[in-house]
Amino acid sequence: MSTSLFGKRVLLGISAGIAAYKSAHLARLLKKTGCEVRVVMTEGAQAFITPLTLQALTGEPVRTSLLDTEAEAGMGHIELAKWADVILIAPATADLMARLAHGHADDLLTTLCLATEARCIMAPAMNQAMWRHPATLANAERLESFGWTLLGPDAGDQACGDVGPGRMLEPEAILSGLEETQASGPDALHGGSFPTEPIPTTPATEPLSPTPATEPRDLAGKRVVITAGPTREALDPVRYLSNHSSGKMGYALATVCAARGARVTLVSGPVALATPAGVERVDVLSAVEMLEAVESALPCDIFIGCAAVADYRAAEVSSQKLKKGDGDTGLTLTLTRNPDIVATVAARAERPFTVGFAAETQSLETHAADKLARKRLDLIVANDVTLAGAGFGSDDNAATLFWPGEGETHRETVSLRGKAELAALVIDRIIERLD
Ligand code: PMT
Repeated sequence: MSTSLFGKRVLLGISAGIAAYKSAHLARLLKKTGCEVRVVMTEGAQAFITPLTLQALTGEPVRTSLLDTEAEAGMGHIELAKWADVILIAPATADLMARLAHGHADDLLTTLCLATEARCIMAPAMNQAMWRHPATLANAERLESFGWTLLGPDAGDQACGDVGPGRMLEPEAILSGLEETQASGPDALHGGSFPTEPIPTTPATEPLSPTPATEPRDLAGKRVVITAGPTREALDPVRYLSNHSSGKMGYALATVCAARGARVTLVSGPVALATPAGVERVDVLSAVEMLEAVESALPCDIFIGCAAVADYRAAEVSSQKLKKGDGDTGLTLTLTRNPDIVATVAARAERPFTVGFAAETQSLETHAADKLARKRLDLIVANDVTLAGAGFGSDDNAATLFWPGEGETHRETVSLRGKAELAALVIDRIIERLD
């Protein structure tokens, strides 16, 4: 059982999405962790799941109406707003996000959100095209600038038959996101009060978001796209070409960027890591899929290619399992070049600040400098993947950063340290070089 949430008063808001059926499980998980849970449902949410279900699971009456005279006599909306340590809305629809982003108070849930000083967290859920719409993305950014934390959305198959980003995170992932915000500081769930002054551009003494007070919000308003993990290039239905990337370095970068206020899309190869809180994750397998996902996530301000992308794929993927012939002594595979993702991004007319990684086993400086120039990167982070305790799969890494200067290439060597620490340093260097 998690102890970081034990005793916290969580107001669970449910809006009108098909993912509302998962909110019942989320309410149970919250109860199991020892939270006090009260539920507020929008009118539309009740078409997907009944208040009675949530009442039975939480043991508390469910509030659905702003003008509920009985409730106003006992716990009015202001009292409820003050009662909560955290407001967690799951699912949060595009419409609810739009209303919250513009300060509406036209039902109980939006009124509570406007009246509260509690930490506010939401798990968006909607059709992929609605999520990708510039209006929704702008609303998401606006909400984050007000101090909201967004968990997800996830990507994958959608109830409407589409595939893409917009799925609500699974209740377990929402719970761990909530725990992470709690772990970000001893008083984290009480530290998310909205500012009473206009939103400052420098970190305020009262944190505007659930990140620790020491974490700078120097990426607020920026969009960052990061690739992480390996790619898998199918040979036949059961075999593939891949490498040893665990995704840890790329996920560390995504975590740091989100904590510093960026809106992050993490395009991930197959890895066994949880999605960092507040990060939109798009899962892919092959290099071609990774390029497609990256291109759909653009434009952005910063692109970081940390994935170990396979340089080659099978020229033809066999539809049947490749068989050994009698007396066969070997197998010849014909491979074809994969697109170079980071170079494709860097070649765009409206290019983001583009960062590559270089995994080297020898002549690190020569190879990294060559990749920096050939791929037209703004910065390259070169790591010697033969170094013990660094590189693929490990929790630590060491690197040399190279970036172009007037007539010379600059460098900075960073000794072995945790990937989170290296990620923070890389982000510092990027920010120093952003226009
Ligand atoms: O995932 P971990 O286990 O934490 O390990 C981290 C790491 C070792 C994978 C990471 O630190 C790292 O070095 N990532 C880059 C690995 C790599 O593919 O390097 P490369 O030198 O082959 O490629 C150079 C750059 O081009 C990289 O930014 C790569 O993402 C990019 N690339 C390569 C090939 C390709 N087809 N498209 C690309 O975008």
